[in-house]
Amino acid sequence: MDMFLAGKVAIVTGGASGMGACVARMLAEEGARVVLTDIQEEKGRAVAEEIGRAGGDAHFIATNVSRRHAVKALIQETLARYGQVDIVCNIAGPGAHIGHLDTTEDEYNRQLDGHLRGVFNCCQAILPHMMERRYGKIINMGSFTAYGAVASIPAYCAAFGGIIAYSKSLARFAAPHNINVNTVSPGNIYTPMTAGWLDQPGTLDVLEKQMPIGRVGRPEDVAVAYVFLASDRARHIVGADVNISGGQLIY
Ligand SMILES: NC(=O)c1ccc[n+]([C@@H]2O[C@H](COP(=O)([O-])OP(=O)(O)OC[C@H]3O[C@@H](n4cnc5c(N)ncnc54)[C@H](O)[C@@H]3O)[C@@H](O)[C@H]2O)c1
Repeated sequence: MDMFLAGKVAIVTGGASGMGACVARMLAEEGARVVLTDIQEEKGRAVAEEIGRAGGDAHFIATNVSRRHAVKALIQETLARYGQVDIVCNIAGPGAHIGHLDTTEDEYNRQLDGHLRGVFNCCQAILPHMMERRYGKIINMGSFTAYGAVASIPAYCAAFGGIIAYSKSLARFAAPHNINVNTVSPGNIYTPMTAGWLDQPGTLDVLEKQMPIGRVGRPEDVAVAYVFLASDRARHIVGADVNISGGQLIY
């Protein structure tokens, strides 16, 4: 199925690694011109170069999405290069492994800033441009942890609860401007963020046996939803949260 993404311009945050890199690759395969951004400069440039070698159009711009002025600069540089932004995929965010009693103020801020504030900054910065063009697709990363009561990572769960609520509010605001805002909520996905845990002997096998679908997700399982929601095929989808957890969480 043609997703009609040829010529579209997409910004992908967290594009240096895991699901962000996969979304960037898949959007480029569909013909979109992609600006990847991340705090990991070397890895981000490598992904952009790899996309270029495969025949795609990709460019890396280093940005910390929790910094408002940096996000504004990212948008300005993208517009100067490509003249438009059609799609924003907010995927950047830090991993977590600190429990309720051990969560320091710094860790709380790291989670809320890296996830929720980053999404807010990127959405707010791109809205005037999308509203002026009366066109836009915004797809924010959610997580099953917003629903699944994971006791071990409280600030991470809170950040994703915030992203999903914020995205629904934004979806209602943006739809009259022909801007579709949606979220995608994966279950456990095997990426550099989770590899340290899933690569421990026996862990992946045990989890795969527990998964209703019998496998742990891979970045491409999530990236396909991004590509679909970024396309006009999904023009009537507004404020949805797509559960991509292989049945790990059904709600
Ligand atoms: N892997 C999972 O099981 C899973 C499940 C649900 C949601 N998520 C979320 O999906 C997103 C992608 O995760 P992943 O598993 O691909 O992890 P990953 O670590 O491979 O990729 C995350 C990327 O975000 C970047 N990043 C972090 N903070 C940033 C910031 N402030 N500004 C710019 N870039 C920043 C990192 O440098 C990294 O390249 C994250 O937000 C994560 O919390 C992951």
